[in-house]
Amino acid sequence: MRAKTKIITISLLGLAVVLFFAWRMLRPLHVFTVAKHFEYPLVTKIPPPLGNLSATTCGACHRAIYREWTTSMHSRSWTDPYFRTDRRVEGNEQICLNCHTPLARQQKFKVLGFHGGDKFDPILAPNPDFSPELQRQGVTCAACHVRHGVIYGPFSREAMRDAPHPTRQWENDNEVCARCHIAPDKNRGVFLKIPPCGTVSEIRLARKEGPRSKTNGRPLLKIPPPIPRTGARARVPKAGSPSPDGSVDGYLGRPVPPGIATAGCVECHMPRVQRPLMAGYPSRRGRRHLWRGGHDPQMVRQALSIRFRAEKPRHGSVAYTLTITNTGAGHYVPTGVPDRFISVDLRLLGSDGRTLKHEHYKLTRFIMWRPVVIQFRDTRLRPMVPQHFIIKADLRADPAPVAVEAVVRYHLLPAAHRRKDKLPKNVAPSSTVFRKRIMIHAPG
Ligand code: HEC
Ligand code: HEC
Ligand code: HEC
Ligand code: HEC
Ligand code: HEC
Repeated sequence: MRAKTKIITISLLGLAVVLFFAWRMLRPLHVFTVAKHFEYPLVTKIPPPLGNLSATTCGACHRAIYREWTTSMHSRSWTDPYFRTDRRVEGNEQICLNCHTPLARQQKFKVLGFHGGDKFDPILAPNPDFSPELQRQGVTCAACHVRHGVIYGPFSREAMRDAPHPTRQWENDNEVCARCHIAPDKNRGVFLKIPPCGTVSEIRLARKEGPRSKTNGRPLLKIPPPIPRTGARARVPKAGSPSPDGSVDGYLGRPVPPGIATAGCVECHMPRVQRPLMAGYPSRRGRRHLWRGGHDPQMVRQALSIRFRAEKPRHGSVAYTLTITNTGAGHYVPTGVPDRFISVDLRLLGSDGRTLKHEHYKLTRFIMWRPVVIQFRDTRLRPMVPQHFIIKADLRADPAPVAVEAVVRYHLLPAAHRRKDKLPKNVAPSSTVFRKRIMIHAPG
C-alpha cells in the first residue's frame, strides 16, 4: 500500500516537473523587465506654433540634420524588416513599441493600464491621435527632443532667443540615449550579468573592471571631450514628480545620474560639426545625427585595433598570433542585441590553395534561452582588453604550408536565424573587418 502511494507521489512530481519545463519551453520569453521609464508610450503636446511632430516638419527648417537622420537606423526602427519579423515571432507585443516607436501618437492603441499589474499585458484602447506617418518614422526627432510641449536641446534659452518654437536646455546630451539603450533584466528565470541591449550597463561594468591608467584612474580609452556649453542648466523638477502632461520620459527634465552623463554615447556616435541650425542663422557647434553602429562596416572597423604577425620560429614550427583589441568603443564589442557576433578564422594554406588547418572562434554571448535564460560564456571584446588567437605552422610537415591567413568578420545575426525568419540576404548582412595573408618561407 505504502509502495503504491510512493509511486503515485513520484509520478505526480515527475509530471509536474515535465509540465513545468514544457511550459517554460512554450511560454512567451521575457528577457527584460519593463522599467518605469519605458512602461508607457510618451504622451506629447505639440509645441506651438508647429502643426504636428513629423520629422518632415522639423526637417523643413533643420534640413541638414533631417537628411542625416534619414540615413540612420533610428529612422528605420519601425520599418526595419528584421525588427518586424522578430516582433511577429514574439507575438506582436505592445512593449516593443515603447522604444521602437516611442510616442503615443505613433501607436494605434493607447495604454490605459495593465491587466493584473502585468506590464507585458497592457489594457489598450483605440488612439484617436494615431498617425501612420509618424509611426513609419520610428525613433523620430520628437522622441529625443520633445517633452511637455517644449523642444529640449543642448543650447541655453539665451542662445535660442530667435527660435520660432519654445526651447529648453537639457542637463546633459547623453540623457536622451538612456531611455532605450538600457533594459533591466531582474525577471525571474533570467540569469544574465548584462541585460540584452544593455549598452549602458556594459559601460558601467567595463569601467569597474577595466584596466586603468596609472595617472588619473580613468580607462585608457580615448573618448572625444564633450562640447562645452554655456547657460543655465534645465530647470529640474523634483525627482519622481510626474510630468505636467503625464509622460514618463527617461531623464529629460530630471536629474541625470553621473554614470549616464559621462557614458560618452553622443561623443562617439554623433560627430561634431560647426554649422547653422537653419539657413540664415548663426553657425553653431553641434553634432551630426548619424548614430553609426553595427550596420556600418567603417564604424565597426573604427572600434577595433587588429594585428597579425609571426612569432620567432621554434623547433621547426612558427606560431602566428592575431591580436584584437577594442580600442574604439566604451562598451563591449559587439554590444546591444545578443544576435551580434564576430567570427575569427585562422587558416594554414597549402601550395594548391587548399586549407591544411583551420581554427575558428566566435566572440559573442553564449546564451541558452529555454527553459531558463542562462548565459554560459561571454567572449566579447571588453574595452582595452586584448584577445590573442594563435595558429601553429609545422614547417617540415608534408604537404608544407605556404601561407597563413586571418579573417575577422562582423555578423549582425547568425545564418541559421536568418533562414528561420526567412530574411533576405540584404537585411543585416555581415562584413569583413580584417583580412591578412602572410607567406611562409620554408626553412633553409
Ligand atoms: C520654422 C522653422 C523651424 C521648425 C519647423 C522647427 N525648428 Fe527647431 N529651430 C529653428 C530655429 C530658427 C532655431 C534656432 C536657431 C539658432 O538660433 O541658431 C531652432 C532651434 C532648435 C533646437 C535647439 C534648441 C536648444 O535649446 O538647444 C532644437 C533641438 C530644435 N530646434 C529641434 C526642432 C525639432 C525637433 C523640430 C520639429 C518638432 C523643430 N525644431 C522644428 C527653426 C525651426
Ligand atoms: C526612443 C528610443 C531610442 C533612443 C532615445 C535612442 N535610441 Fe539608439 N536605437 C534605438 C533603436 C530601437 C535602435 C535599433 C534600430 C534598428 O536597428 O531597427 C537603435 C539603434 C542605435 C544604434 C545602432 C545603429 C546600427 O547601425 O545598428 C546606435 C549607435 C544608437 N542607437 C545610438 C544612440 C544614441 C547615441 C542615442 C542618444 C543620443 C540613442 N541611440 C537614443 C532606440 C533609441
Ligand atoms: C536619438 C536621439 C535624437 C534624435 C532622434 C534626433 N536628435 Fe537632434 N539632437 C540629439 C542630441 C543628443 C543633440 C545634442 C548634440 C550636441 O551636443 O550638439 C541634438 C541636437 C539637435 C539640434 C541642435 C544642433 C546640434 O547639432 O546640436 C537640433 C536643431 C536638432 N537636434 C534637431 C533634430 C531634428 C530636426 C531631428 C529629426 C530629423 C533630430 N534632431 C533627431 C538627439 C537626437
Ligand atoms: C569610445 C566611443 C564609444 C562610446 C563612448 C560609445 N560607443 Fe557605441 N559604438 C562605438 C563603436 C566604434 C561602435 C561600432 C562597433 C559595434 O557595432 O559594436 C559602437 C556600436 C554601438 C551600437 C551598435 C550595436 C549594434 O548592434 O549594431 C550601439 C547600439 C551603441 N554603440 C550604443 C551606444 C550607447 C547607447 C552608448 C552610451 C551609453 C555608446 N554606444 C557609447 C563607439 C562608442
Ligand atoms: C528598452 C527599449 C527597447 C524595447 C522595449 C525593445 N527594444 Fe528592440 N532595440 C532597442 C535598442 C536600443 C536596439 C538597438 C540595439 C542594437 O543595435 O544592438 C534594439 C534593436 C532591436 C533589434 C535589432 C534590429 C537590427 O536592425 O538588427 C530587433 C530585431 C529588436 N530590437 C526587436 C525587438 C522586439 C521584438 C521587441 C519586443 C519584444 C523589442 N525589440 C523591444 C530597444 C528596445
